[in-house]
Amino acid sequence: MARKVLSNLKLKPEKRTDLQVVKQPEIKTTKYSDINLKKWKDYAHILTGTLWQFPSRLKQHGHSNEYHGNYIPQIAQQMYERYTKKGDVVLDMFFGSGTSGIEAINMDRRCIGVELKPELAESVSEKFTPKQLVTDVNIICADSASELAVDKIKGRLEIMGEEKAQFLMLHPPYDDIIKFSDKKEDLSNCATTEEFYDLFEKVAQNGYDLLEKGRFAALIIGDSYKNSEVQPLGFECMDRMRKIGFKLKSTIVKDIQGNERGKGRTANLWRYRALAGGFSIFTHEYIFVFQKV
Ligand SMILES: C[S@@+](CC[C@H](N)C(=O)[O-])C[C@H]1O[C@@H](n2cnc3c(N)ncnc32)[C@H](O)[C@@H]1O
Repeated sequence: MARKVLSNLKLKPEKRTDLQVVKQPEIKTTKYSDINLKKWKDYAHILTGTLWQFPSRLKQHGHSNEYHGNYIPQIAQQMYERYTKKGDVVLDMFFGSGTSGIEAINMDRRCIGVELKPELAESVSEKFTPKQLVTDVNIICADSASELAVDKIKGRLEIMGEEKAQFLMLHPPYDDIIKFSDKKEDLSNCATTEEFYDLFEKVAQNGYDLLEKGRFAALIIGDSYKNSEVQPLGFECMDRMRKIGFKLKSTIVKDIQGNERGKGRTANLWRYRALAGGFSIFTHEYIFVFQKV
């Protein structure tokens, strides 16, 4: 508007003292984030490399470390800032202790979390205010691989005024490394690793169907060591997601030493076992980032 007035007057801005030129802030963003690319140098805190090392787990701002098997909040922070906009809905198919939901609130995003264990779905709700549970965080107790879960998620999305989610978070059990429950639908309770992969694929397919086109998904996962060999859980699950149709955008290796508990006392024993058995001790996990194109 200011520019139009000036051109009508045919005067150079510096010659007019009574007219204040309001410079419009230059903003350039992608369709999926609020990062202002015109000021890209201001985002030094956003990691763009493939090796992530965090000295310790973030424990403040609603996060605690009471749930064995939760991911560190810094991952959500990085993913949300880079791949979501304010108000977007994050769909987490393995909600656990609610890290994705807590960080959604902290960063003005919204979240739908699906968790199989009723007692956990119940207790994690207590981390949010009644108002937040209506407007910002929806917790569903269901098997993420099921049609029932899909129907419930669609219902919650509708209540939130959305047709699809804008980000998909997948942090499944790492096969049976930590057994979360005795339920047959539990991915940590599969009879074989092949069965784990198949169940994971069903969940990933549901996630794909519920994600908006052009948006992103993250898979956080580590490998396991079973029957004297490495089970490449990360690569196989990543491959299943690619077969579904996700486009792989990043393979990030994350140091897990900052978020591992209790290994200190048994570190030497593990070193002995590694030297004797010819294997290496896991000190990393993966974060695979995908886009639905
Ligand atoms: C690795 S944990 C996720 C932790 C979570 N990201 C956090 O930060 O607290 C995996 C979770 O998936 C849940 N789970 C396992 N099988 C499931 C299924 N079929 N549907 C939904 N949740 C499932 C487990 O009960 C467990 O809480």
